[in-house]
Amino acid sequence: MTSSAQQISNTLQHKITQEINNSGAISFAKFMEMALYQPGLGYYSAGLKKFGKEGDFITSPELGHLFAHCHAAVFAPVLASLDDAVIFELGAGMGSFCHDVLLALDAKNQLPDAYWILEVSADLKHQQQLTVAQLPPHLAEKVQWLNELPQKPFNGIVFGNEVLDALPVEVYQQQGNEKKRLMLSNVEEKLSESWVDFPDDLAQQLAAKQLSLSEGHRSEFIPNLAQWLSSITQQLQSGLVLWVDYGHGSPAFHHPVRNQGSLVCHQRHEANFNPYQSIGLQDITAFVDFTHVAECLSSLGFEIQGFTTQGDFLADAGIANLLDPEGEFNEYFQLASEMKQLMLPTEMGEKFKVLAATKAFEQAVLGFANNKLYDL
Ligand SMILES: C[S@@+](CC[C@H](N)C(=O)[O-])C[C@H]1O[C@@H](n2cnc3c(N)ncnc32)[C@H](O)[C@@H]1O
Repeated sequence: MTSSAQQISNTLQHKITQEINNSGAISFAKFMEMALYQPGLGYYSAGLKKFGKEGDFITSPELGHLFAHCHAAVFAPVLASLDDAVIFELGAGMGSFCHDVLLALDAKNQLPDAYWILEVSADLKHQQQLTVAQLPPHLAEKVQWLNELPQKPFNGIVFGNEVLDALPVEVYQQQGNEKKRLMLSNVEEKLSESWVDFPDDLAQQLAAKQLSLSEGHRSEFIPNLAQWLSSITQQLQSGLVLWVDYGHGSPAFHHPVRNQGSLVCHQRHEANFNPYQSIGLQDITAFVDFTHVAECLSSLGFEIQGFTTQGDFLADAGIANLLDPEGEFNEYFQLASEMKQLMLPTEMGEKFKVLAATKAFEQAVLGFANNKLYDL
């Protein structure tokens, strides 16, 4: 670790300590928000290398172009049947998905009117601009970075890969008949955990899930998720929302086998379960409860079109057609290993899921022939 990275981490820890001292204790969600997004200091906000071999993790769009090209196959018929359609991507990382999906849609002669990106990290926005600048001008000029949520009605596709798992979560534990909230305070200059009652609004959100858990079961939820989804989609008049992420439907998410929750941290391609170490230098994520996401979208007037594994989604979207066994051997070999990583159940194929919801859009969405809605 460089001394400047350590300095950033020290400054961030000092800020978190100040925040705790100002209020006595902070929720885990506040801690996670600061650790990941504190301007200039948080994991996603400072200039550290996060993605790829020299970073901490690799995402599907960073493996190569297959993931984005399959999405182009899913997006093209949706774009074709909407007027003035846009693609609105949340949390675009290095901008690779945007780059590759625009090239593939161009080849299909099915470009959106515009490609909007909403990105909370100034550092990643800069990286995305560098990636988009490599596109031919007629594609690069489609991309716009939003400084605020869309204010005008639009038709199109709202998309996010590995964004939901990066939203700050509240942590809770079943204690007797109650679910208690994890708070952090400073004890002898160290972060210390304690459990308290939730404020009414969050208690209601948790109660709405109607969970019956055993004593000591610990888990997480994204606070105010319906509000967040509403703010992103309220101007969408007609179209598709597609979320890809690691997670489960509620029965699997809240299964006793996961009674210690799903928080996981990543640093240099190794996973650990201690969010209080290397603060600001490691990613902190939680698996997604897709039933919660689906219920929030339904309450906002969306129809759930499909929920399936990434492997089945990409198979149905035609990933096999993107490899040419008669083509150049090295390229074929490289694409075949990329496909394995995306598809195999032991790699990303099963852990990652895809949820599709539509609003005022009747057409079936490609990718869900092997729909596993029963797991929601
Ligand atoms: C794990 S990265 C995934 C990046 C990219 N989608 C990919 O697949 O490579 C999470 C991304 O979500 C962004 N992000 C987190 N919270 C966000 C929010 N509330 N709105 C928009 N972007 C957000 C992060 O800054 C980052 O770009």
